[in-house]
Amino acid sequence: MTTRSRTTPRAVGITEVAQQAGVSPGTVSNVLNRPERVAEATRLKVEKAIVELDYVRNSSGSSLRSGRSDAVGLLVLDVTNPFFTEVARGVEEEAAEAGLAVVLLNSAETQERQRRNVRLLAEQRAAGAVVMPVDDDLSDLLWLHSRGTAWVALDRGDVTEDVGCSVSVDNQAGGAAAGRHLIGLGHEHVTFLTGPFAIEQVRRRHEGLRDAFTEAGLDPDDAVRVIEQPLLNSAQGERAVDAVLAGGPNRRPRAVFCANDQLALGLMKGLGRRGLRVPEDISVIGYDNVDFADLVHPGLTTVAQPKYELGRSAMRLLVSALKEPDHVHRRVLFTPELVVRGSTAALRSLQA
Ligand code: RIB
Repeated sequence: MTTRSRTTPRAVGITEVAQQAGVSPGTVSNVLNRPERVAEATRLKVEKAIVELDYVRNSSGSSLRSGRSDAVGLLVLDVTNPFFTEVARGVEEEAAEAGLAVVLLNSAETQERQRRNVRLLAEQRAAGAVVMPVDDDLSDLLWLHSRGTAWVALDRGDVTEDVGCSVSVDNQAGGAAAGRHLIGLGHEHVTFLTGPFAIEQVRRRHEGLRDAFTEAGLDPDDAVRVIEQPLLNSAQGERAVDAVLAGGPNRRPRAVFCANDQLALGLMKGLGRRGLRVPEDISVIGYDNVDFADLVHPGLTTVAQPKYELGRSAMRLLVSALKEPDHVHRRVLFTPELVVRGSTAALRSLQA
């Protein structure tokens, strides 16, 4: 029996490229790392040789010398949430412009997974990381920083400049906008369907909702009922229907503010399965404005977050931390925007 040995072709190196282009290996290195120092005619000759020989730079060599790879981590809370798709697109496009590769890691909303991912980034000598912390405990990020890995907190408004950079959206303003919208429709009682209050974003949305009722002269303790689910996903939204409708037809809420679109879309599915109509029987509002919010019928009224810009802005801060010697920590705060669709309606029009 013959065994075919797996021989991988020897990778083309800088020496071969230099010979092909008729220049020194040092000139090839300059074209790769400091092209502005090379005359255009010479640079074009080297680039032509790179294409002809199908040369690919071996970054592991440079990372061995520098002790850091050209990769950065993007550690998201829940990779199944389409909110993070747009965030990741912004992170990746900004990283690519800086010559960095992005490694996507999922915390699945657990500290244990976050800790494992943070250690993995340190083992891989990642140059830096954009991290959406699972909860208020930032010890993992401080540990990463102590190992020389720069990080930027994304989607957290409570990370102060003395600790690091952060990019977030004003979630309290977003919660207040949702509350004002429902109050403007005549709803004086709202159920807040949320994920764990350990997640700072949803706590701020709840605070903003309560602010809106206080602002309207209503007692938020009486007006706002909270239902807390273990996770912020559509399955938990669907499972929450019984809790939302508890108390029977005369006590069920006529408006539900969901801490994110995933919960809202799951709740709408569950309400439909029980023959309840949105918004005729119950108004539902979400948070994020993921693409699906506009694909369901009725369209989901929601509070839009600038997802792509969040990602780009976080990565821009990380590149600054990695490449600018005079970098100083900054907090970037975006403003959310209410998007009204068909899932909310005036209470008076619903009293059948
Ligand atoms: O990851 C949970 C939620 O927090 C997302 O849906 C988004 O709203 C983020 O802010």
